[in-house]
Amino acid sequence: MSIKEMKAEEEFTFKAFSEHDFYKEVNQALVNRAHLERGWTVVDVACGSGAITELILEKIRGARDAMVIGVDMSATALRDARTKVAGYTDAMVEFVQARAEEMSERIRQAVDAVVFCNGIHYIEDKCRLLSEVRQTLRPGGVFAFNTGFFDGALPDETKAYYKRWMLKALRTLKREHDLRPEHSKVESRRTLTADEYCQLLTGEGFEIETAEIYPGQVTEQGWIDLSRFSDFIEGTLPGVPLKTASEVLVQSLKETFAELEMNAWPRNWLTVVAARR
Ligand SMILES: C[S@@+](CC[C@H](N)C(=O)[O-])C[C@H]1O[C@@H](n2cnc3c(N)ncnc32)[C@H](O)[C@@H]1O
Repeated sequence: MSIKEMKAEEEFTFKAFSEHDFYKEVNQALVNRAHLERGWTVVDVACGSGAITELILEKIRGARDAMVIGVDMSATALRDARTKVAGYTDAMVEFVQARAEEMSERIRQAVDAVVFCNGIHYIEDKCRLLSEVRQTLRPGGVFAFNTGFFDGALPDETKAYYKRWMLKALRTLKREHDLRPEHSKVESRRTLTADEYCQLLTGEGFEIETAEIYPGQVTEQGWIDLSRFSDFIEGTLPGVPLKTASEVLVQSLKETFAELEMNAWPRNWLTVVAARR
């Protein structure tokens, strides 16, 4: 990674977004449905800044052998995660810098559960990911994931809000910076439907326990914080320098919220719990 990329990673993190109450609520819903037990060993894939690691610890802590292993490819995210859970002394906590698609090489023991919050949509080869999750789990182990980026995430009435936001952003980008995003990169991001996720899981040797659409609410400040997160910025305005893209997204978002006179937009989170057959 170049020094420039490292600086960007430090500056445009997910941390602020991950601390919102609405975000905790959708993730708590997933963690509750996964029925994690005290004393379990649980992998938190793409753990980011540790928001979910903490929710998992609250479920498993206080019993012998309780352990959470956070996996993320970002050193900056792992540093934030370590700080967030530093106070937990009644469970073992380990962090591993690795790609989710390679985690079975780094996690040698068979674990009781794998939790993957808000990141599965980044993984291009989802069959490979599921095979890795399967290899990491003991038979009967639980795989729980959620995502707010799937085909079905946007309630119909909100589609016009995003369109208004993006049109404003594109106009501002052109007018004030003479820039436009690289469309080829935008088009390569295809989102799956809930049914497609379920079919993949079944095909890769999982039994679906629950698959639900959880209705979340993302506040204006939530969208502002997401517009300051590198992965979201790059996915939304690919090819545009991060700082410029972020400023344009924030400015056009604020204008959109003001025009709509709203405080939050509803957003669906696909919430799935499956067991390894
Ligand atoms: C949106 S954040 C979610 C963090 C956390 N799970 C949460 O819900 O708060 C996505 C995280 O996925 C990580 N990530 C993205 N692709 C990854 C991959 N292929 N392997 C491991 N981590 C990945 C990023 O570094 C980032 O920390």
